[in-house]
Amino acid sequence: MTAMSSTTGMPTLSSGEVERVLSAGVATRVGDGEVHPMQAAFARHDAFQCGYCTPGQIMSAVCLIAEGRANSEEDIREFMSGNICRCGAYPNIPAAIREVTAEG
Ligand code: FES
Repeated sequence: MTAMSSTTGMPTLSSGEVERVLSAGVATRVGDGEVHPMQAAFARHDAFQCGYCTPGQIMSAVCLIAEGRANSEEDIREFMSGNICRCGAYPNIPAAIREVTAEG
């Protein structure tokens, strides 16, 4: 289980996880050790490799949930199909999205 910040309610990552996300260009530091829940889920599920596509993947994933379209694996894959990943991180991206959806 990911630790949550008592001040912001954002998930906190280990320093190694934060550095991996930041070095891949996936996230901008929100606070000390804090990133958006979707960014944290992408890191936990290894949903990126080079990180080139990841900002767009994360923005689409956040919108997918906000619009209530993350109802099934098929819906997630269909909604995210416009985001091309040359590294082939596709299997882990829906897992990250499902985790954030489940956390509500
Ligand atoms: S992680 Fe490299 S293009 Fe998607």
